Amino acid sequence: MFSPDLVLVGFGNVGRRFVRLLEERASELRDAHLADWRVVGIATARHGSARDLRGLDVARSLDLVERGQSLEAIEAPEWAGRKRGAPVPSGVQLIEQVAEAAREAGSTRPIVVVETTLLDIGAGQPGVDHVRAGLRAGAHVITANKGPVAFAYAELNSLARTAGRGFLFEGAVMDGIPIFNMVRQTLPAVTINGFSGVVNSTTNFIITAMENGREFAASLAEMQAAGIAEADASLDVDGWDAAAKASALANVLMGARMTPQQVERTGIGHLTGAHVRAAVNLGRRMKLVARGERREGRVVVRVGVEELPADHLFATLGGQQNALLLETDLLGEFAVVQLGGGLTQTAYALVTDLVAIARDYRNLT
Ligand SMILES: NC(=O)c1ccc[n+]([C@@H]2O[C@H](COP(=O)([O-])OP(=O)(O)OC[C@H]3O[C@@H](n4cnc5c(N)ncnc54)[C@H](OP(=O)(O)O)[C@@H]3O)[C@@H](O)[C@H]2O)c1
Repeated sequence: MFSPDLVLVGFGNVGRRFVRLLEERASELRDAHLADWRVVGIATARHGSARDLRGLDVARSLDLVERGQSLEAIEAPEWAGRKRGAPVPSGVQLIEQVAEAAREAGSTRPIVVVETTLLDIGAGQPGVDHVRAGLRAGAHVITANKGPVAFAYAELNSLARTAGRGFLFEGAVMDGIPIFNMVRQTLPAVTINGFSGVVNSTTNFIITAMENGREFAASLAEMQAAGIAEADASLDVDGWDAAAKASALANVLMGARMTPQQVERTGIGHLTGAHVRAAVNLGRRMKLVARGERREGRVVVRVGVEELPADHLFATLGGQQNALLLETDLLGEFAVVQLGGGLTQTAYALVTDLVAIARDYRNLT
């Protein structure tokens, strides 16, 4: 049985749905060799932090954050005493402190850092630092944040291998639909020569809404009102989210060493309702497509609007649907299609990563 001590760095929508899902599926997860997990640390940006090696009160932590209050109230007294007057620890400090205290206490339970902070597209932070700190501290790391793989996969993967720890990130692309774990676990000795995909839901929704007579601003406002697009939607609209996912795919599946800044990128900001409806009248559909290919020994990745024939797989995707097509040497081309995504699917990606680590490492502490 794998009984991890979880350190949650980020406790927003995904982090909270993740711990609830673990509770909801506890008996099924026991069959997958995962049981008796505890949360021993939580770090946030504006809701304080809490540490308790005996296990934090998860129900209370959810309640506190959802009422906009600080987690300090549930911190174990020994930590509260230790940090009197000290500033709230950063995610990196909290990971290091919990790992050190567990070592000092002689704990043999594996630590898993669950990273769900937001991506700064400029540098991939703070996720890269959190993953690095976790692996250096001897923890396994799972994340739904695309930053670490989009910006620093080669370094972090090498760190994980050297440390003999797991580093998994299924939620980084297409929520919980298996991409990275599918390739890792089920496609041995296959070379991926290229990929293409519609991987950003917000832009696909906006284009579909414009096809149906809405204008750009109204479609975007609708996504924001539904809580799907960020208040600052430029990451989606300008193609940065798709570029970060494409960079992650290229780094992990094709051995590239790139960042989103090296993706040739245009967004959908120049599109109007008239543009997309003119394409529809010609039997075609516009999509924001991410592509990666090998060219002269290099992996080249680009994101841009393409006008596709109506019978193309990507042209059949409406609203928030996503698809990824992989070009392989042994299996030819095949596609994975996501007809519905969201919070539970992303939280489930973290659960699948945790189970994968349980399977790979349950005999190790
Ligand atoms: N939501 C989805 O459906 C979805 C889908 C796929 C991938 N993802 C990815 O999953 C990650 C989490 O998304 P979310 O929807 O849960 O976001 P969210 O609700 O905004 O939560 C982000 C969490 O990170 C914390 N945080 C931010 N900066 C931090 C820092 N420097 N140190 C410690 N904690 C920090 C925030 O603290 P405060 O609450 O105190 O601000 C919050 O708890 C993101 O990387 C996102 O791209 C999300």
